[in-house]
Amino acid sequence: MRPFTFHLHTKIVFGRGSLNRLGGEAARLGDRCLLVTGRGFARRSGYLNTLVKILEESGLNVTVFDQVEPNPSLETVYKGAEEGGRNRCNLVIALGGGSAMDAAKGIAFLLKSGARLEESFAPNEVSEALPIVAVPTTCGTGSEVTRYAVLTNVGRRRKEVLLGTPLTPSVAIGDADLLNSLSKQLTAYTGFDALSHAVEAFLSKESTPLSDLFALEAARIILGSIVEAAEGAAEARENMLYASMLAGMAINCAGTVAVHGMGYYLTNYHGVHHGLANGVLLPHVLRFELERGLSRLEDAAVKLGFENGLSLVESIEGAAHRTGVARSLVELGVKPSELDAMVADALSYARNLDKHPNPLTPNDVKKIFERALGG
Ligand SMILES: [Fe+2]
Repeated sequence: MRPFTFHLHTKIVFGRGSLNRLGGEAARLGDRCLLVTGRGFARRSGYLNTLVKILEESGLNVTVFDQVEPNPSLETVYKGAEEGGRNRCNLVIALGGGSAMDAAKGIAFLLKSGARLEESFAPNEVSEALPIVAVPTTCGTGSEVTRYAVLTNVGRRRKEVLLGTPLTPSVAIGDADLLNSLSKQLTAYTGFDALSHAVEAFLSKESTPLSDLFALEAARIILGSIVEAAEGAAEARENMLYASMLAGMAINCAGTVAVHGMGYYLTNYHGVHHGLANGVLLPHVLRFELERGLSRLEDAAVKLGFENGLSLVESIEGAAHRTGVARSLVELGVKPSELDAMVADALSYARNLDKHPNPLTPNDVKKIFERALGG
């Protein structure tokens, strides 16, 4: 058996209505909380008011920071930490998708450590952070159970990672009612992020027997639920919330590989949603690996009940097409003239490419991008 270390630090409170447990769980961890969320959805949906009420009824003092943008910048994290510091917050609560959760993690780290983000990114590990409670409202990142926070250095157009066990939320509230008003598009895009996490974690060189368990179960559930979930089926959305959390547990150990490393360019240079970028690239990376005869991919397919690797990839493509994921990078506004820049950018994400199961040469990456450009 492959030797492994498995990280699992989060108390998961899962089920419809579990939001009502938030107050009690938060009160165990602190009495002055910074509630971190995005600019629109939380307030528009009424969930922000609901959360503030739940927390105040449990005796917490609540400061709201609702300035998190998609792909949160370092500036936003500094701003949130300032707000939390001014109000002497000792607990950070995240309400939202990966952006809100990752910003909250960065803020929790700054508030506890007083350090600078720029000097703390991976491969360094952060050693302290305020306790974090995560309340996901999408079915994608699994950030509610991971020790990662992905932040954007806007000036350098780079995704940076804060990494460390203290960033793992102490509590994750998985309440699928919060997904009721998620759009078809965001359900599909965040779902493809989760599917990429599952497949990439399984293929990663750092996969372990336990991360495989989570990765395969996540992929099985997502492939069976994503189309219905995008159409709005409540049960399928709950399945997706559960599966995205499982996929989070898988990447918490195994990390992600070339799909993520290649997708960052699309987000940083074209504003493409992170999950959409992965949804477009995943089948192309997998087809390339099928041609190279990657046995782990065949293995995954058989374990998931498919005849072979090709039928697994076709099933992923079918789900992408049925949920409105773009078929080509050109459709997303990427120009063939960007090819060399895309390759160079992808290769700079060594933390992803080094974990890829087969070495990828610049030519390999180029070939995959070329195919993805045309769909
Ligand atoms: Fe991701």
